[in-house]
Amino acid sequence: MIAVTGRAPSLPPAYRLVALERVGSTNDEARRLAAAGAADGTLVWAREQTGGRGRLGRAWESPPGNLYCSLVLRPEIPLARAPELGFVAALGVGGMVGAFAPPLNEIRYKWPNDVLLNDGKVSGILLESGPAPDGSLDFLVLGVGVNVQSHPRETSFPATSLRAEGAETVEVEAVLESFARHLLTWVDRWLDEGFAPVRKAWLARAWRLNETLDVTLGDGGVSGRFSGLADDGALILAAPDGGIRVISAGDVRAARAGQGKD
Ligand code: BTN
Repeated sequence: MIAVTGRAPSLPPAYRLVALERVGSTNDEARRLAAAGAADGTLVWAREQTGGRGRLGRAWESPPGNLYCSLVLRPEIPLARAPELGFVAALGVGGMVGAFAPPLNEIRYKWPNDVLLNDGKVSGILLESGPAPDGSLDFLVLGVGVNVQSHPRETSFPATSLRAEGAETVEVEAVLESFARHLLTWVDRWLDEGFAPVRKAWLARAWRLNETLDVTLGDGGVSGRFSGLADDGALILAAPDGGIRVISAGDVRAARAGQGKD
């Protein structure tokens, strides 16, 4: 773990920034700090990760030039509501991407928590919870990776970066500042008004809503029409047999071939 050099980002006072040049995973570092009592709003940011982690046990390529940060949150909510925060974070990323992407670029939210720019994945979110001994929620760590200057080539779903979509001169500090501001707005709204406005804003830009999706689950897969989000953020699929499937975790793809970027 090495302390960061270069310009210090300017963040709203709600955040306590821990800025690092390089770390294994900002999520691991944030979890370590949270378990040791770090305050709500502690934000671990690193210019580079040597062991970045993605969802479903995947690695997250983390060279310098992209954004890697993890926020410690201690909301007073039941553990069952924790997944809502992934959608809150996606809206924060979407607001930031909208501020940097050139006009007419298309931002979409892909279930559960990816942010797409022109059909390529520009950001991924890894939400992890720390339960207290009595089973209640102690803390959440919200890990966010944004492809700013580069993106990986060999991915199961096509990736892109802000730079590849035309935002060429964006520096990572400015991306962090903008994301932190947009996230704070959405976290405050979520805490004040609940999940309903978050769900509504997310659905307004949902990727492939009302289209047929293939969802890979731990024990197989299922296809159906993406007909909405449940009150807790689960994916609602209308299966061809007329049944409804409500899915809490999985990997989503468009059912037809040739979707997204090459
Ligand atoms: C995914 O789409 O699979 C989630 C990717 C999450 C990557 C971020 S980068 C910052 C934080 N630290 C990690 O090790 N992972 C998350």
